[in-house]
Amino acid sequence: MKRVRTAVLISGRGSNMAALLDAANAPDYPADIVLVVSNRPGAGGLDKAKAAGVTALAIDHTGYGSREAFERALDAALRDHHIEFVACAGFMRVLTEWFGSRWEGRLVNIHPSLLPNYKGLHTHRRAIEAGDTHAGASVHWVVTEVDGGDVIDRETVAIRPGDTPEALAARVLERELVLYPRALAAAVRQRRVNPVS
Ligand code: GAR
Repeated sequence: MKRVRTAVLISGRGSNMAALLDAANAPDYPADIVLVVSNRPGAGGLDKAKAAGVTALAIDHTGYGSREAFERALDAALRDHHIEFVACAGFMRVLTEWFGSRWEGRLVNIHPSLLPNYKGLHTHRRAIEAGDTHAGASVHWVVTEVDGGDVIDRETVAIRPGDTPEALAARVLERELVLYPRALAAAVRQRRVNPVS
């Protein structure tokens, strides 16, 4: 089996990234995670990636004059490392149509809600305030609409009486760490195979 050269994009502590790296340690996992990129130089996930022996780069978005200029630098780094598939894991940048169409069919994201509910931010607070009985997380294909692409897989978590957004987020995160390795394996097997030009 030829494993698919995969990059993980992060902005913060990188717990999902670490779960993906763990899963990819198995030789029969279909994604080989060879690169981690953060748009924030101080992201804790960069140190976790380096400790795991994976190339970790910071490409600071504040150093670029536009969203697309940042993405061109990101895209160049992905191509330099011969990346075939990209997994966003707590990557807190909205991607442009340019980047999205370039990587369409090879770009996934994890979002902390039961999509299509609660696209965007503050997902757990919104679910609690709406009186929902369940929250969760979804892994989806990235398309131009933010958090709008087809869902690949989800995990559901019960909302408890008196739950705070933080307590709920912690329980959802536990499920994310199970969900993302499973969903990334499925996504890589379904990917578009034409190379990025
Ligand atoms: C995760 O809960 C992920 O679902 C969320 O950020 C957290 C990152 O945690 N992603 C988003 O909100 C994307 N809009 P991590 O860095 O510890 O994996």
